[in-house]
Amino acid sequence: MQQKTTLISTSQFHKDVYKGLTDFPKHLSSKYFYDAKGDKLFQEIMDMPEYYLTNSEFKILDKFKDEICRAFFKDSKEFNLIELGAGDGKKTKILLRHLVAEGIPFQYVPIDISENALIQLEDSINNELPSVRVASLQGTYFETLENLCKMQHKRKVIMFLGSNIGNLLHPQAVEFLMSIQKLMTDDDLLFIGFDQKKDPQTILNAYNDAAGITERFNKNLLARINSELDANFDLNKFLHWEVYDPATGTAKSYLVARENQTVYINGLDLTITFDAWETIHTEISQKYDDNIVSWLADKAGMQISRIFSDENKFYKNYILKK
Ligand code: AVI
Repeated sequence: MQQKTTLISTSQFHKDVYKGLTDFPKHLSSKYFYDAKGDKLFQEIMDMPEYYLTNSEFKILDKFKDEICRAFFKDSKEFNLIELGAGDGKKTKILLRHLVAEGIPFQYVPIDISENALIQLEDSINNELPSVRVASLQGTYFETLENLCKMQHKRKVIMFLGSNIGNLLHPQAVEFLMSIQKLMTDDDLLFIGFDQKKDPQTILNAYNDAAGITERFNKNLLARINSELDANFDLNKFLHWEVYDPATGTAKSYLVARENQTVYINGLDLTITFDAWETIHTEISQKYDDNIVSWLADKAGMQISRIFSDENKFYKNYILKK
């Protein structure tokens, strides 16, 4: 998730901020976390001891790389390994390295909205794994994937790592999976990470770290509105607040106004008032179990073919098929 918003149109950002802050209760979309500062903070989050997701997925890929790569390589034909939201490729390189070592023919196709993220990724793969053929594609996931399918008829393995699907509510997640499913043939695979339900305290700690990095990440939304829309949010007048409901598996992030206040957003010519303890909902990070994943897959016209888990059962990667 790097600098995703650089190409999201400014007017969409304006519209969403206007809508979100004039609604009741107030909300802002987590997709706007990722400006240059937000990207950097998210990198720091992934390195935090509390944010177990990254390390758990890393361990799964490392431990099961051989089985995963063999599942990817169904027949002797070259396939396209397509990654949605490529990020820095740290985890993906485990699989790329193994595919190269095993002499498995493939082409790596990272798709990201950020040109900058793709250039950096391509450079680092060219340096570290010069024999990997990289054909990066800049654009939104589905449009780009659709265009690729029209141009090439190679078998596809589509990867969506990091439990990024967790930032969608279930109906949106089904829609997302369905859009991918429609572009898959019976031979294609979707390799996807889902963070699992676990001790609620472990989840709360992951989203409310002691060093306050997640707090800065959450408040970056307000900082971004200040700088891009010339607003005067006082970040100290908001609390970062995380809740987790073990019944639904939904973690939610909020910004909570510490006191009555008025904020002026010059770029929208909009005055927003906050009552003390009023909230802005900023993110959901859904947690799953096998039944929920199976239900989502089924709704989207797919089924689970393989499951890979870390030792703690904190996180799982699933292979889904049509
Ligand atoms: C990108 N996404 C899967 C992260 C998550 O876990 O929901 C974003 C994040 N928000 C707070 N910490 C990390």
